[in-house]
Amino acid sequence: MTLDNGPAANSEYFRILIADDETAILELFSEILAEEPGGRSPKLSELSSSLFGSPREAAQPGRFELTLAEQGGTAVAQVERALAEDRPFAVAFLDVRMPPGMGGVEAAERIRALDPMVQIVCITAYSDVDPREISARIPPPDKLLYLQKPFDPQEIIQLAWSLAAKWKAECDYIALRQRLESLVEERTSELACANAKLTMEIKAREKVAKLIASAKAEWESTFDSVQDLILILGRDHRVTRLNMSMANRLGLSPRLVAGKPLRDVLKPDVHPGPYYRDILEMCDGSFHTKELSIPGLRGEFLVTASPMLGVAGTLEQTVLVAHDVTQRKGLEARLRQAQKMEAIGTLAGGIAHDFNNILGIIMGFAEMALGSAGDDQILSRRVNHILDACQRARDLIFQILTFSRQSSEEASPLRMGPLVAETMKLLSATLPKNIRIEESIKPGEDWVRADPTQIQQILMNLCSNAAHAMREQGGSLYVGLHVVEYDAHKALAHPELSPGAYARLIVRDTGHGMPPEVIERIFDPFYTTKNPGVGTGMGLSVVHGIVQKYGGAVTVESAPGRGSAFTVHLPLASPGSAAGRRTADADALPPGQGRILAVDDEKALLEMTRDMLTSLGYTVTATDSPAEALKLIAADPAAFDAVFTDQTMPGMTGAELAREILTLRADIPIIMSTGYSDTINPEKAAGLGIREYLLKPVLRRALAEALARALRS
Ligand SMILES: Nc1ncnc2c1ncn2[C@@H]1O[C@H](COP(=O)(O)OP(=O)(O)OP(=O)(O)O)[C@@H](O)[C@H]1O
Ligand SMILES: [Mg+2]
Repeated sequence: MTLDNGPAANSEYFRILIADDETAILELFSEILAEEPGGRSPKLSELSSSLFGSPREAAQPGRFELTLAEQGGTAVAQVERALAEDRPFAVAFLDVRMPPGMGGVEAAERIRALDPMVQIVCITAYSDVDPREISARIPPPDKLLYLQKPFDPQEIIQLAWSLAAKWKAECDYIALRQRLESLVEERTSELACANAKLTMEIKAREKVAKLIASAKAEWESTFDSVQDLILILGRDHRVTRLNMSMANRLGLSPRLVAGKPLRDVLKPDVHPGPYYRDILEMCDGSFHTKELSIPGLRGEFLVTASPMLGVAGTLEQTVLVAHDVTQRKGLEARLRQAQKMEAIGTLAGGIAHDFNNILGIIMGFAEMALGSAGDDQILSRRVNHILDACQRARDLIFQILTFSRQSSEEASPLRMGPLVAETMKLLSATLPKNIRIEESIKPGEDWVRADPTQIQQILMNLCSNAAHAMREQGGSLYVGLHVVEYDAHKALAHPELSPGAYARLIVRDTGHGMPPEVIERIFDPFYTTKNPGVGTGMGLSVVHGIVQKYGGAVTVESAPGRGSAFTVHLPLASPGSAAGRRTADADALPPGQGRILAVDDEKALLEMTRDMLTSLGYTVTATDSPAEALKLIAADPAAFDAVFTDQTMPGMTGAELAREILTLRADIPIIMSTGYSDTINPEKAAGLGIREYLLKPVLRRALAEALARALRS
């Protein structure tokens, strides 16, 4: 029940139910309660005094809507109806005795069950009704009153007013409470809603925070695991951030670097070089890539600058990524060097070959001139000078051929350790006293396939260069020999070498060292920084040629004032017995006897060979055409005891000629001379059935011995 909507709440009327079996009483109630404010009707006074005796003054005006019932049952029905219409009664005056029907107590009991708010007044003229029983049957006690007959009309008015007011107050209170409760409920649900939303938001935020934290951790670990050196630079050219690779390269903790000017970070002690200006120029808000040499980071770098723009599109920071290309640059330089050496080698080899032929002619004729000089002392001396000079020229040519890998020396398995140790013993006697020698020759299975004299040559050339570099200040010369093994990964650092085992020889000095422009040229033939007459500039070229020939590599590390270190790698070979060196008996030349067919396209050389052979006692048929030679043999295979042929000839090579001749006569001894060993070598020649193999220029002794051996076998 609400008073908001009910008529009783909105109007000033209060509904009052009066139940009494006496019509006069009902009328009296009507009179009393219908009384106009300010006065009392004469009818009421009369009625009152007829019922209760002396009249009384009415106290208060009132406006009540009265409902009268003569029976308890009717009263209960009225209450039901009032509730159904939502026009509840405020007060019910119920006579306790209403014979013959339902009495007031029972009616009150039922009314209370229907309407908990209505104020009930039990009117009784008898005192036989126990108030305690009534109180127990009609709770609550504060909504129940007794009125003893006879009553004063004023008392009724007073009761009606105060009970109606009480009823209203209670109804208002309940309505208010309900309102408050619903407000509280509303507010609570609003709060619960807001709370749920907040909880959800907090959860979402927590999730986002976690995502951000993991993304940050991911980003940082990626940033730090990048091998390239990364540095983020603010607009003021101060370092905002750097990755671990950069911090490690600088040797500083990232915390120490952040916030510092780039200038201080890259090179704190020296005035920044041109690279510094280049880097700053790259931080102009555009993308740039440039190769720079950065001494502060010890190397050559491919530097990429990428701008980081703010919301307004203005440059905020620049990300600098430096990719270390030092090794690649080094490899490129080495490759260029190798290609250059190859080209020079081919050129020098070609020249040396032709020059060797010319020298062969000079020497051959000079030897013959010496032979026919007889007692002419002056002529003999002069010719000997020619021969001495030729010998020196021959040595030089030999060096050039060694460099261009066109000399054929005997290679056999040998142990590096003992050979290096022995050579060092010889060398140490010749080195100045102000040079201290340190040796570290690790014993091991350091077998290589090489000519021992060439290994000695390598060591002597390197050591004499080292000694020369230390001649003024003195210093220490370190010679180390170790066996090393390179897998595919390690071999990457040595592009000239394939993976495998090597003997590594290191010759290091503490001399004056070399600037890069000298290092670039030291292996070039005839490149020297020494005074004329002091060096020929062939030392390192020869070393290079020998090492290359054996499938190894020679590298150098040096800087001015920091000494030099040469490293030679030679591939290891399986052990074997060192081939005994051939010895020829000292003086006497074996006398010749037999018919020799000599073939050489170069007429002068052919003539010289014929003279030499004739002077040795042979009968010679000479031809400058291989085809002609073949024809002669075909005509009569038994006409000759041996064939002497040059290898390089137009139309048909010596090897091809030999093959053809051997098909005509399989047992004929063939001797071959050659200046080149590119297309043929002693092994190949032997494979073809060629008995002897001679290097140009061919000297008399070598020719005599070779022919003697060939004819003997
Ligand atoms: N250990 C070293 N220290 C400093 N410079 C060196 C060293 N080794 C070689 N060089 C430089 O390399 C140049 C070439 O050396 P190379 O051995 O080829 O010729 P050279 O020593 O000048 O002459 P040669 O070897 O014929 O006596 C030298 O002139 C020198 O400038
Ligand atoms: Mg030298």
